[in-house]
Amino acid sequence: MLQTAVHRPVALGKTEMKPSYRMDLRQYTQKEYDKFVKVNTVNDWSQVTWKDIGKPYEVTSFSKEKTEWEEKHGEILPVHTSWTMFNQSFHQWFSKDVPADISEKKDAFFHSLKSFNPSEVKTALGDYLRIHLWNYVHRIQDGIWDPRGKRALFEGLDVKKPRILFLGAAEGYEAMQLSAMYPGGEVVMVDYDPFCRDARFAEFPAAYPFLGKNPRTGGDKVYYKDAFTISYVVDDIRNLPYGAEFDIVLSVGLLEHFPDSMKAEVVEWHRKFLKPSGYIVMTTPRAQLRSKLYYEIMADVMNHTYRELMTLEQMGLYLHENGLDILKHGYIKVHNGIVAKAK
Ligand SMILES: C[S@@+](CC[C@H](N)C(=O)[O-])C[C@H]1O[C@@H](n2cnc3c(N)ncnc32)[C@H](O)[C@@H]1O
Repeated sequence: MLQTAVHRPVALGKTEMKPSYRMDLRQYTQKEYDKFVKVNTVNDWSQVTWKDIGKPYEVTSFSKEKTEWEEKHGEILPVHTSWTMFNQSFHQWFSKDVPADISEKKDAFFHSLKSFNPSEVKTALGDYLRIHLWNYVHRIQDGIWDPRGKRALFEGLDVKKPRILFLGAAEGYEAMQLSAMYPGGEVVMVDYDPFCRDARFAEFPAAYPFLGKNPRTGGDKVYYKDAFTISYVVDDIRNLPYGAEFDIVLSVGLLEHFPDSMKAEVVEWHRKFLKPSGYIVMTTPRAQLRSKLYYEIMADVMNHTYRELMTLEQMGLYLHENGLDILKHGYIKVHNGIVAKAK
């Protein structure tokens, strides 16, 4: 018999910090909306030029794992391997009991002081700093999943029971949030790293509540991972057999991992699977000082791959010059977000 999880009732309008993440069922009022998404700052994309806005910031401090691999093998880390390293590394942080880890890292730091060994002290201090940063960014600020910002960005799409394609899906968070807001359809998640399907998505907390819509009443409804119709495809995006059949094609943190010579191809990956009436939804990390610091401090955890930080204008221009019609652009806590159609 198929087992479905029993979920304890959760309170709409409430937020609560769990050991590994924040659950947030707060709605925003129209007045609060501006706090979560600043939208449509550019009136006419044809007036924006690279000369005026410059090119993205490239993150050049790489993880120890990448540099050690390259020293050992005498070649550049292959892209696919770099993703498998990144996913394993990043996933560990989502699985942490953060308060317990803070206390452990604090004890380890004080213990290291007794060693009078500068490199031991430096390592212990770095570990303590990183878990504090993670606590602030992911649990206190909820900057990575950012459900209120994402809901504000995703709202207003004219779709019913959409088929959603998530390119480079990792743990699949944003497709589940979209599916809660536009229920009754199906999600196809694609990632060529099997660890994403088998660990990052499989171990995504079954108790995490996604605030969405009740299609019967039009009111709010809370959904959990097991309520969505999801298939997870482990393959290279370039091998996908689909035609122009999806209502929403989504990517989160994909475009910035490709240099300019490949940006057109990445945009095309989104367009080619989209129904003529469909929406492309894309987000990329923002080029703000605090993000630059985050990627510096978290280099060992995050920086296995080529990575840019771009402004909303830079992201928009990549999409505009590659044939997308930008309907809505804005920035949420740590990402830029764009909703577009194919021209
Ligand atoms: C930076 S992650 C997306 C960010 C994600 N939200 C996270 O938390 O990690 C990008 C994902 O795209 C996948 N990816 C990159 N290139 C791909 C390709 N050509 N085909 C399929 N998946 C790809 C990687 O394996 C990785 O899991």
